[in-house]
Amino acid sequence: MYVCCLFSFLPLSHCSPSSSLLHFADCNYAKGRWIADSKRPLYSGFQCKQWLSGMWACRTFPRKDFSFEGYRWQPEHCKTTEFEESEFLKRMQDKTIAFIGDSLGRQQFQSLMCMASGGEWRMDVADVGYEFGLVKAPGAIRPDGWAYRFTNTNTTILYYWSASLADLVPVNATDRQTEVRMHLDHPPAFMRRYLHRFNVLVLNTGHHWNRGKLKANRWVMYINGEPLEDKGLVDLHTAKNLTVRSVARWLDQQLPSHPRSLKVFFRTISPRHYRDGDWNTGGNCNNTTPMTRGSKVSKDESSDAVIASAVEGTRIKLLDVTALSELRDEAHISNYSAKTTNNVSDCLHWCLPGIPDTWNELLAAQI
Ligand SMILES: *[C@@H]1O[C@H](CO)[C@@H](O)[C@H](O)[C@H]1NC(C)=O
Ligand SMILES: *[C@@H]1O[C@H](CO)[C@@H](O)[C@H](O)[C@H]1NC(C)=O
Ligand SMILES: *[C@@H]1O[C@H](CO)[C@@H](O)[C@H](O)[C@H]1NC(C)=O
Ligand SMILES: *[C@@H]1O[C@H](CO)[C@@H](O)[C@H](O)[C@H]1NC(C)=O
Ligand SMILES: *[C@@H]1O[C@H](CO)[C@@H](O)[C@H](O)[C@H]1NC(C)=O
Ligand SMILES: *[C@@H]1O[C@H](CO)[C@@H](O)[C@H](O)[C@H]1NC(C)=O
Repeated sequence: MYVCCLFSFLPLSHCSPSSSLLHFADCNYAKGRWIADSKRPLYSGFQCKQWLSGMWACRTFPRKDFSFEGYRWQPEHCKTTEFEESEFLKRMQDKTIAFIGDSLGRQQFQSLMCMASGGEWRMDVADVGYEFGLVKAPGAIRPDGWAYRFTNTNTTILYYWSASLADLVPVNATDRQTEVRMHLDHPPAFMRRYLHRFNVLVLNTGHHWNRGKLKANRWVMYINGEPLEDKGLVDLHTAKNLTVRSVARWLDQQLPSHPRSLKVFFRTISPRHYRDGDWNTGGNCNNTTPMTRGSKVSKDESSDAVIASAVEGTRIKLLDVTALSELRDEAHISNYSAKTTNNVSDCLHWCLPGIPDTWNELLAAQI
């Protein structure tokens, strides 16, 4: 099939069967535009109570404007099919999809659970966290992650909290007050231990790479088994760059001998939209009108150079969501949540249903 000839932007020399296939396989999902679609959202923010955290369920907030829910991302030159939960689950028969990352990864996980269940209450979904050691430790507020299985298709979807993608080793496992070694050049133990069971792995990191988070978590950076002892001298951009390159390289090395046809995606950073201050200085994201920043992404390169360059030359795929999410400043939690006090806004996390659903649509199209 000489499909590419339909596209006048391609020179005729590209119109061979092989290059047209290559063209679709390599199409850039990050380029395209947001368009209004009455079939959005893909699930109800009222109904997906089984997996959607109350703190992200904007339908339950005193928010009046939900126009942000009514858009889908249309990649420019990629063949896309509408996400359909039963088709997706059938395709994912006997497969395990793992998200490893920070709270934005957890949002993507909850979004996929809602999408795959149609946002309906499901009795046929089993909690299988124990299979992956994801159980609440004594005294902990929550487990380090969650794992659920759609029993009809034997499809497992899980999330593991690893905000930095570095291996965290407490100096004293029984004393929560001691420091935690953050091995920048070691993938998290959870990843090393369970990788052989995954068919799809989606990574992300980004917003925890700041001094405040490191200090609050008592994370002390290590390289080569030695403390960096930087006292603020080591640039955190460099530390993050080193870590994401290290994890990408390690995963790339695992792929040839992996027992399943594992596909690894590194999601690019999810943008924040604080204006007139930061989260703790009265910043806000109070716009409610969609697409005031435009609806189109036309550039070829990713807006996240760190992650894009970390996967370059590896078999890890880029799940490039940064530029398309940049356009959606109206779709954050903002200051509507019940927990909102005074002028504190969450312009980092997204309302669900919302933007992470699009990330999952792009993921589903590529697996
Ligand atoms: C479910 O899938 C796993 C592989 O992910 C396989 O090992 C297992 O046998 C399957 N279980 C059933 C009941 O088919
Ligand atoms: C670890 O912490 C526990 C509890 O504080 C303490 O009893 C124990 O001695 C510590 N172990 C080491 C090796 O410091
Ligand atoms: C929204 O924020 C902008 C910029 O911080 C501010 O100028 C404007 O007054 C705010 N709008 C409302 C409705 O409060
Ligand atoms: C909003 O935040 C700023 C910066 O933290 C603070 O100075 C100000 O008092 C806050 N305003 C209210 C109404 O809480
Ligand atoms: C990340 O590290 C690589 C290799 O050291 C370097 O080439 C690249 O410029 C770095 N990127 C950033 C954004 O620091
Ligand atoms: C949220 O911010 C808007 C202005 O941007 C303000 O009018 C409103 O009172 C704030 N809501 C809460 C709950 O603080």
